[in-house]
Amino acid sequence: METTMVFMVSSILVVLLSSSANALSVRSLSSSVSTPAPAPAPDYVNLTHLLSVAGPYHTFLKYLEGTDVIQTFQNQVDNTKQGITIFAPKDQSFASLKKPPLTNLTNEQLRSLLQFHALPQYYSLADFKNLSQSNPVTTFAGGQYTLNFTYSSGTINIGSGWTNAKVSSSVHSTDPVAVYQVDKVLIPEAIFGNPPPPSPPSPAAPAPDIAPGSSAGSPGPVGDEPSPSASSASSYRIVTWSIFSYFLLLEVSGGLILFL
Ligand SMILES: *[C@@H]1O[C@H](CO)[C@@H](O)[C@H](O)[C@H]1NC(C)=O
Ligand SMILES: *[C@@H]1O[C@H](CO)[C@@H](O)[C@H](O)[C@H]1NC(C)=O
Ligand SMILES: *[C@@H]1O[C@H](CO)[C@@H](O)[C@H](O)[C@H]1NC(C)=O
Ligand SMILES: *[C@@H]1O[C@H](CO)[C@@H](O)[C@H](O)[C@H]1NC(C)=O
Repeated sequence: METTMVFMVSSILVVLLSSSANALSVRSLSSSVSTPAPAPAPDYVNLTHLLSVAGPYHTFLKYLEGTDVIQTFQNQVDNTKQGITIFAPKDQSFASLKKPPLTNLTNEQLRSLLQFHALPQYYSLADFKNLSQSNPVTTFAGGQYTLNFTYSSGTINIGSGWTNAKVSSSVHSTDPVAVYQVDKVLIPEAIFGNPPPPSPPSPAAPAPDIAPGSSAGSPGPVGDEPSPSASSASSYRIVTWSIFSYFLLLEVSGGLILFL
């Protein structure tokens, strides 16, 4: 009789535990489902406005406006399905650019150099993994104006022969417009010819033999890789516990039936 009581009490306890765990898991699941707010319908993107408020891109914008390339880019946004991806160097990158001077370029060359900073299609950051399989990639400037992309553990490098730049942040990325900040002005070989051989030993470039996409298990650099969200991890634990307690409940009530 006493043993029966123990079983009943413990089975009630298990039922309570299990239902509260279920309530918890439902709550945390639904909250983790609703966290990525549904993307609102893409607003009209005014590139001039975006670049003037988004960061220190005033030199880039001044060049884009001076050559009317900003209008070419805006037309691509407004009138195509492909959209656009723009690589915006900061003012500081223009200021520190010494090797090939931009001052002696013809207007046509300057236009090409600016269009070299864009791709005539929208690419999310994740798309660069695939894009890096298609090197060399033709830029908005067309023809010989190509860039090579490498993608390793979420880091995107952009090579032009002259330049080994890195995507340093995402300014805007909603189809059809992506604007990414790059840490250098991109210098096309199509204008400046082959780059001079590097005199000092160049700082270790990202090894080209790292297979892109070997993210799982590889000892990647400690970087800005997003870690799996804590909320999904904890809801996983709660679900596991609630399944566990369900089986415990089955076992206990099975034992109870046997006992009775
Ligand atoms: C885009 O933004 C610029 C700067 O804010 C403004 O001068 C221009 O009128 C805008 N163009 C359109 C089409 O809204
Ligand atoms: C730029 O052009 C001027 C004259 O057109 C010339 O004197 C000067 O050396 C050029 N500078 C460079 C860096 O090519
Ligand atoms: C990957 O790139 C190729 C072109 O190089 C394209 O045909 C294919 O659709 C892309 N795949 C994805 C998943 O974006
Ligand atoms: C770009 O990639 C292509 C193909 O892998 C290669 O032939 C070319 O030399 C690369 N160019 C630069 C500037 O790295």
